[in-house]
Amino acid sequence: MSTPLARLLRQEQFAFLTRDHSAWGGHLDQIRAFLGEGLQAADPARPVLVLGAGSGLEVPWALAPPDTTGWDADPWSRCWTALRHRRWAPWVFEDLTGGLSGLEAAVRRTVAEPWSGRRRGREQAILRLAGLLPSLHPDPAALRAWMAARRPGTILSANVMGQFGVVAERLVETLFGGSPWTQDPEVADPLAEALDAWTRRAAVAFLAVLQESGADLWLVHDRAVVFAEAPLGLSSWENRWLQQLQGAEGLEVSDPLPGLDVMALMGGTERIPFRAKRWLWPVAPGQQHLVEALAFRASGVGG
Ligand SMILES: C[S@@+](CC[C@H](N)C(=O)[O-])C[C@H]1O[C@@H](n2cnc3c(N)ncnc32)[C@H](O)[C@@H]1O
Repeated sequence: MSTPLARLLRQEQFAFLTRDHSAWGGHLDQIRAFLGEGLQAADPARPVLVLGAGSGLEVPWALAPPDTTGWDADPWSRCWTALRHRRWAPWVFEDLTGGLSGLEAAVRRTVAEPWSGRRRGREQAILRLAGLLPSLHPDPAALRAWMAARRPGTILSANVMGQFGVVAERLVETLFGGSPWTQDPEVADPLAEALDAWTRRAAVAFLAVLQESGADLWLVHDRAVVFAEAPLGLSSWENRWLQQLQGAEGLEVSDPLPGLDVMALMGGTERIPFRAKRWLWPVAPGQQHLVEALAFRASGVGG
């Protein structure tokens, strides 16, 4: 992983940890209970994998079977986890999308001419990148290889999938040296649309590797980010998450998994979903996340 990428992930983690946690109690209780159930249900004779393990704020490592590996691209995540949980777990630091270094190379090629190093004009670079992004297909090869070698019985995805697009956005902004996005929501933004499509491809490829793994899956991810001062309500489960949000009419709602229906993609005849819930996480004043937690039991696929 390149230095700017590693630095960026470390900064994201730091920003996550230094936020005001005072309103996070409900979220932390729910996610620790969900992931803790996954760890306790895991077959201790088989490897367990925790993706997006981070600093372990959301992961009850005390419940993890001995052969549990953490996976997080933040170079400090393992140390943070060791400090918090007194456990030096085996760790993988690779990019879970497999596509960030390709994205980084593409942005570098568009912001400056590769042959002269001369920076292109902002508008020209934006259009070039928007045109180049559809040719990028993130491939989580490292994750697939790890699965093939270790054949985990249980995989926890601990609030990482919704970060794929956030990290990609920050990477683009960093290399552009500022925001390349259109500010007016009424005006089309071809670059944002192309990056959303990249994020969607990354999440679909990631889920396909999990699907093929033959492991039980415990997935937690940001399903939506809602910007609102007014309190929001949540009705009982609706397949379409937007319908579950009460008081969200006319609010700014963004979808970190652009248009993806994880339940529909992962469910079906080969996998049996046995937990499905959502809750609201007041991340910061005026910003709430709708968190989705889904558990699927393997039924002989790939395992
Ligand atoms: C919201 S935090 C999750 C926190 C974590 N579950 C915990 O208990 O501390 C998202 C984590 O995903 C990691 N991450 C984001 N994008 C990643 C990627 N493409 N590959 C690997 N890790 C990534 C970040 O470094 C961060 O630790």
